[in-house]
Amino acid sequence: MGSFSDYAAAFGSNPGFLNWASFAPLSASVLSEVAADAEMLSTGRPAAFTLSRERIQEARGLVAELLGAPARLDDVTLQPSTTHGLMHAFYGLRGTVLASPAEFPSVSHTLDRAAKASAGGLTPRWIEPAHTFVTPEAVAEALDDEVTALAVSHVDFRTGYRTDLAALRDVLGPDRLLIVDAAQSFGVVDADYLVADVVAGHGYKWLRAGRGTGFAWFSARARERIEPVLSGFGGVEGGELVLDEIAPPAASAQAYTVNFPDSLAVARLATALRDVRDAGVPAIEEAIRATWTRSSRSPHGTACPC
Ligand SMILES: Cc1ncc(COP(=O)(O)O)c(C=O)c1O
Repeated sequence: MGSFSDYAAAFGSNPGFLNWASFAPLSASVLSEVAADAEMLSTGRPAAFTLSRERIQEARGLVAELLGAPARLDDVTLQPSTTHGLMHAFYGLRGTVLASPAEFPSVSHTLDRAAKASAGGLTPRWIEPAHTFVTPEAVAEALDDEVTALAVSHVDFRTGYRTDLAALRDVLGPDRLLIVDAAQSFGVVDADYLVADVVAGHGYKWLRAGRGTGFAWFSARARERIEPVLSGFGGVEGGELVLDEIAPPAASAQAYTVNFPDSLAVARLATALRDVRDAGVPAIEEAIRATWTRSSRSPHGTACPC
């Protein structure tokens, strides 16, 4: 697969499918590459394990590439889901975090649970903006010196409302963290994600990679402020297995990982990311915009049954 036309030509097995904002059918290339990787893993040959490791780096590098320069592979972690990425952010945060209770529960429930586990160190400040749209104005109204972060969906799962990340960054200023749930936008919305500090997402919607394909990117500011409290033995320097001693969490974003990722999920994610990178997010976004303008329907706005 290379160009947008190759990408578009690979669709079509189920042209009436409209539930992309919930769960997308796996792409043909994901299906065939994961079968090849599974076949390889079934051999037990050392090359199979080398391939698995290479896939991890490939997937992390491609997430960084799609986020845009200067995002680096080292700042990207692979996660079982978006929610796992957000857990690493919220459980390690201190201060007051703004969020809407109308967010997908990956934000609202995770923030609530992290606050309850924080012994008073973390407090959610729930905001209830009109129509549930987390606008820069609604955020500005709720700000004071206690606020250390805002957590928000880039695209709202229910309404399809798209936040203006750059405007939110302006309102927050340089010192507060902007934590973005990009589950509804990554791979389909061309935006400046790097104005945020944490971007968490997954591959089972617009990337067509299936579940188990989460990821999270952490800026330098995020890494300074967020303790890797949920760091596991996979979160050590180099991601190597350390035995007979207790290694500290890595100095890089790798610290925000628990264990080694599922090899076949990583293969699905890497393949899907490559297809989207090659087709180009602006071209994909434009094609969807043209389709929904013709049909007067938003591609978002379907309540997620997951
Ligand atoms: C905005 C948003 N965030 C998070 C999720 C859940 O993501 P995950 O299953 O990767 O945790 C969804 C699922 O629809 C969603 O719409």
